[in-house]
Amino acid sequence: MKKKLLGLSLSLAFVSAPCILHAEGNTNAGKDKTASCQGCHGENGNSSAPTFPKLAGQHASYLEKQLYAFKDGSRNNAMMSAIASALTDQDIADIAEYYASKKISVNGAPSLPPDDDDDTQKPTMPKLTMPELLSAGSNIYRNGDIVHEVSACIACHGPNGEGNKPAAFPTLQSQHADYLIQTLTDFKNGVRSTNPDNMMAMIAKKMTDEQIKAVSYQLSTMK
Ligand code: HEC
Ligand code: HEC
Repeated sequence: MKKKLLGLSLSLAFVSAPCILHAEGNTNAGKDKTASCQGCHGENGNSSAPTFPKLAGQHASYLEKQLYAFKDGSRNNAMMSAIASALTDQDIADIAEYYASKKISVNGAPSLPPDDDDDTQKPTMPKLTMPELLSAGSNIYRNGDIVHEVSACIACHGPNGEGNKPAAFPTLQSQHADYLIQTLTDFKNGVRSTNPDNMMAMIAKKMTDEQIKAVSYQLSTMK
């Protein structure tokens, strides 16, 4: 189907250039339909606020799955559910195609929030420095954690955090660390998904808060 359209657009290219844009799928329609998303997810899907996920470069299959999950309430988020409920199937397909075609922005070097140094509450817990967190995160990502039976993330999310398009496993590389920490904690506490078979909920439940932080900072630096 795509090949056929491409062939058609190539033969029409000599007649009228805009036909090429049209045959490129629904990316252009998607762009128009994301006007209301830009305030939070940024122009082109690269949000500037670190608690709003970047959508640029995400697999269309995963984006569609999430928008349907918000719509039917199997992913809990009141605000996104309200937004997704207003989208038709065609809107969802166009929007997913649009964001998937964009390039995710690279993050600056991660730093710990200032209040993280305040360990007056737990003086006995040694705090890991950022380099130590990144190295621990890289280890969990590649090897998992045998003691806590945490699966290696690399198995599903790929050597560079690129995910798996056909399986709708999301790309995680260069995502905001704050969003990753939040969403992994939501999986862990059963907040994100109402589906008891959700793979990530089962994995995150076995992770300590420190491990969640470590792997999130590491992912934010992957590209
Ligand atoms: C008011 C801010 C806001 C607006 C406007 C908004 N979003 Fe979101 N979006 C969020 C937040 C916050 C989350 C994270 C939700 C969570 O924690 O589960 C999110 C999550 C998502 C996700 C899941 C991303 C992932 O990596 O799992 C998708 C897809 C998404 N939004 C698409 C859209 C689209 C499409 C629009 C416009 C039609 C839109 N959003 C408008 C705030 C917003
Ligand atoms: C067995 C396959 C599998 C393994 C192993 C796995 N994941 Fe996932 N991951 C998934 C799937 C599937 C989803 C989508 C879940 C959904 O739709 O709610 C996901 C989603 C995520 C998300 C949400 C992304 C977003 O944009 O909201 C994060 C973060 C994540 N995984 C991190 C990890 C980390 C860290 C590890 C290793 C400790 C890991 N995953 C191991 C399959 C896996």
